Amino acid sequence: MAGPIKVPVVSQQALGGQVYHLVLAAPEVAAAAVPGQFLHLRVGEGHDPLLRRPLSICEADREEGTVALLYQVRGRGTAWLAGRRAGERLDVLGPLGRGFPAPPRDGPCFLVGGGLGVAPLLFLATALHRGGIPVVFLAGAESAAGLYRLSTLTARGIAPAVATVDGSAGYRGPVTELLARYLRPQAAAALYACGPREMLREVARLGARAETPTFVSLEEVMACGTGLCRGCAVPVRGGRTRYERVCAEGPVFPAERVAWDAL
Ligand SMILES: Cc1cc2nc3c(=O)[nH]c(=O)nc-3n(C[C@H](O)[C@H](O)[C@H](O)COP(=O)(O)OP(=O)(O)OC[C@H]3O[C@@H](n4cnc5c(N)ncnc54)[C@H](O)[C@@H]3O)c2cc1C
Ligand code: FES
Repeated sequence: MAGPIKVPVVSQQALGGQVYHLVLAAPEVAAAAVPGQFLHLRVGEGHDPLLRRPLSICEADREEGTVALLYQVRGRGTAWLAGRRAGERLDVLGPLGRGFPAPPRDGPCFLVGGGLGVAPLLFLATALHRGGIPVVFLAGAESAAGLYRLSTLTARGIAPAVATVDGSAGYRGPVTELLARYLRPQAAAALYACGPREMLREVARLGARAETPTFVSLEEVMACGTGLCRGCAVPVRGGRTRYERVCAEGPVFPAERVAWDAL
């Protein structure tokens, strides 16, 4: 990993619901990034806030030399980020972390995104589709207004299935119920998921039940983002409870490796 670089903002688009699509001109990052990796961004002018904020890479366009992020304003850091405009420069570190592994067997890949968890999966769907691997994309949200950037999939010929808790779009209910209906034993090559922790826990259970290799992207509050501080450690299975760093060994983990009971 190289050190931080300053990259210009190409565009920043408000998508509603405090969600933004941010495009950065960063040819080196676009060339190196794999789906599942993230950028660690400075989110202030000086040293306040001190800590960078991690955001998944949502798109990487090697020809254009750009990467895109899809994020929701949560607090001070993301609010500052939302105020940046085209031409301003951002201090970014990355791409960081380990991405989604290749599917270990033949067949369609199932991708399950909850809320803004679709961000790294949009990048993954594009890469799998380019490689000729069939993609079943399931996106869930509280309501239709919480479904973002799915039109980029449709434009590539991937028809996403959606689930909303209030029934305002697609299946009425959690996206994991939709997954339970679609996923047949040993039929999928792999199951990839990103979203709220409870959703990931259920995806892990369904993946194990269907004997499907399952990989989840975890989120933890991060400090260094590069494996030094151990601030982002999560419990993993082993003889006794062990910990692995979301920023270094993750953010993508085989679902059976995560010690869900201790999380
Ligand atoms: C690997 C990784 C990838 C991520 N990708 C995305 C993404 O693509 N899009 C997106 O919208 N968000 C993503 N997040 C979450 C994002 O990093 C946090 O929302 C952001 O750091 C909040 O910063 P803030 O200063 O705005 O909020 P703060 O003021 O720091 O906190 C506001 C609230 O958010 C919680 N929070 C802070 N940091 C994190 C964190 N790292 N993970 C979970 N909750 C946090 C705090 O506990 C608090 O409740 C990702 C997190 C990780 C670890
Ligand atoms: S954030 Fe420091 S080790 Fe992961």
